[in-house]
Amino acid sequence: DWTSDAFAETTIADLKAQLGDDKVVLALSGGVDSSVAAVLLHKAIGKNLHCIFVDNGLLRKNEYESVLEQYKDFGLNIKGVDAKDRFLSELAGVEDPEKKRKIIGRVFIEVFDDEAHQIQDVKWLAQGTIYPDVIESVSVKGPSATIKSHHNVGGLPDFMKLKVVEPLKTLFKDEVRRVGNTLGLESFILGRHPFPGPGLGIRIIGEVTAEKIAILQEADHIYIQNLKDAGLYDQIWQAGAIFLPVRSVGVMGDERTYENVIALRAVESLDGMTADWCHLPYPVLAKISNEIINKVKGINRVVYDISSKPPATIEWE
Ligand code: XMP
Repeated sequence: DWTSDAFAETTIADLKAQLGDDKVVLALSGGVDSSVAAVLLHKAIGKNLHCIFVDNGLLRKNEYESVLEQYKDFGLNIKGVDAKDRFLSELAGVEDPEKKRKIIGRVFIEVFDDEAHQIQDVKWLAQGTIYPDVIESVSVKGPSATIKSHHNVGGLPDFMKLKVVEPLKTLFKDEVRRVGNTLGLESFILGRHPFPGPGLGIRIIGEVTAEKIAILQEADHIYIQNLKDAGLYDQIWQAGAIFLPVRSVGVMGDERTYENVIALRAVESLDGMTADWCHLPYPVLAKISNEIINKVKGINRVVYDISSKPPATIEWE
């Protein structure tokens, strides 16, 4: 039978044997997967693990700062890189979801590669890839179509010439959390909802602009904070707000408004492969909607997504 203790012990021993005195570089995102991968590697090779955390400007409100802050005491070697402007300018004018994913993936690799090159003699790239990432990316790539290209799989360009180590490749999300727990990671990391690599870039339908990012960050922050305050956050697999490029008519005082729509998404799932929409209590939805419409300039309507996966997907893009 699989246990997280045995998995951690064996994996740390295997990583030690496999990596020896080699240096390893890892992209830390603040999410569960990359954090657990980082701690396993840190336990195996200590200071030979170099973590890089890229701010792509598509993170949640205050996320970059708070993640760096939270990792301070971990003893991990972390370098934070502010690349917001670079991502934004490369995304200008692009509406197609897969094009946005590809751009975000490519720019991420370029930024990461620049940073990795500054570490002398690095030999390995570590990734927090988990089993569903592997199968979704393989199984959906029929001859006809890729449903969504998850850029954290197989995204290594030749020029990096690094060997890849993926210690979580056989695990499902709940198993990753159990391993994290065994390693002593705290719930503020282990309990976080999954968040896609392209971040808010695929939660803004259509073109991404700085203004839309700012609006979505505010709305999403209100949404997530309310779920936490209501004690619902931990019961939900994944929640987030989506910015719709649709304007609708509203009324504020005596004024007609014509502004954008925010959609709220919350799903229950075991592994992200299938998902059901959450039956959130109406009073909580009412409070979130009021708060978003009253506080977030540019939004005059909030809708709740009642679609399950399949046939919908969790993300809108
Ligand atoms: P979908 O939308 O395919 O999402 O039902 C399933 C899970 O995968 C996440 N997701 C991504 N993660 N890069 C990622 O790293 C991506 O391009 C991407 N697209 C979706 C999504 O947030 C959900 O957890």
